[in-house]
Amino acid sequence: MTDLFSPLTIGDLTLNNRIIMAPLTRMRSTQPGDIPNELNAQYYAQRATAGLIISEATQISPQGKGYPATPGIHSKEQIAGWKLVTDQVHKENGKIFLQLWHVGRISHPSLQPNEALPVAPSAIPAKNSGTYTATWKPTPILTPRALEESEIPALINDYKQSAINAKEAGFDGVELHSANGYLLDQFLQDGSNHRTDNYGGSIANQARLLFEILEQIIAVWGNKRVGVRLSPYGTFNDMSDSDPIALFSHVLENLEQKQIGYVHLIEPRASTAGGSDKIAQDAPNTAQLFRKKFSGVLISAGGYNPQNAKEVVANGNADAIAFGRYFISNPDLVRRIKENSELTKYDRATFYGGNHKGYTDYPFLS
Ligand SMILES: Cc1cc2nc3c(=O)[nH]c(=O)nc-3n(C[C@H](O)[C@H](O)[C@H](O)COP(=O)(O)O)c2cc1C
Repeated sequence: MTDLFSPLTIGDLTLNNRIIMAPLTRMRSTQPGDIPNELNAQYYAQRATAGLIISEATQISPQGKGYPATPGIHSKEQIAGWKLVTDQVHKENGKIFLQLWHVGRISHPSLQPNEALPVAPSAIPAKNSGTYTATWKPTPILTPRALEESEIPALINDYKQSAINAKEAGFDGVELHSANGYLLDQFLQDGSNHRTDNYGGSIANQARLLFEILEQIIAVWGNKRVGVRLSPYGTFNDMSDSDPIALFSHVLENLEQKQIGYVHLIEPRASTAGGSDKIAQDAPNTAQLFRKKFSGVLISAGGYNPQNAKEVVANGNADAIAFGRYFISNPDLVRRIKENSELTKYDRATFYGGNHKGYTDYPFLS
């Protein structure tokens, strides 16, 4: 029986354990410029005992930005900032992948170059969803501009360049963010993709952009240093699809062919992507549903506690478990799970923005 503390091999990379730090947006990069800094480096280094850290979502281009103070990976200064982070994590014997992000429609003109409308597969707004303006005012999501097919090659190139930049910044690999209602998820699911060109209208077309990007990223990193995050049945950011089983089966079967490093599935029971403490009891179990479709490493996230994490790895439905909120408030989460110690409760008020408070000041076990 596999336990959370046995090593996990991903290609030529060996993780010391199967407790993964989930990607967590904290909106604390240096302004202007969305540049990672020493405080961010300290935060990640504190959590370096995770088998793998997946960085907070990081915009691949100025257009990919959807919230204030999220970091980027498209400028020299950002690459240098991330190098501070990767150096600190490696000094503590940790491993860290960068999560590559384009938010698509989940943005606001004040965050966009030239105050432009955010872009998406189709001009469909995310209802009952929101973000913050550049001055941190909560705002609903506007109707986005549908991307022209002629704009897609440049978009793919932005992803490729960000993967090259991630390498220069010293990361161990990259995770493609195709979950939680951001751009690649908007293309995948037919609630947000009404296109009639090569990028919509059929499951293969809806998934085309993801695989075209993946090909470029694999060319930079090699297949095993690339992971993909997906959130089947997720409803956050107004997502929906008419046939999630067919769609995600297609995606996973194609990821299987690519033999990528890992697939990272978010359980829909944590349906607002960690935005509320409610756990939906009747949500489908996607690790179980899709496990058979992908024979490589499967990371499962969403609403785990030490007990159910141990069970899911022991029964083989996942190879590793990613923790989000508990990693915010427990820098030494791995040790606490191992020793059955109490977990510190997180403070939602300090999730986004601010300083060291609720960021680098959570206690370690003595
Ligand atoms: C503050 C916060 C920020 C998050 N940021 C990201 C992110 O940048 N990228 C991402 O894929 N998911 C993000 N998520 C979702 C988490 O990675 C995770 O899937 C979710 O919190 C459920 O896991 P948990 O129950 O262990 O917290 C975020 C969640 C929270 C609470």
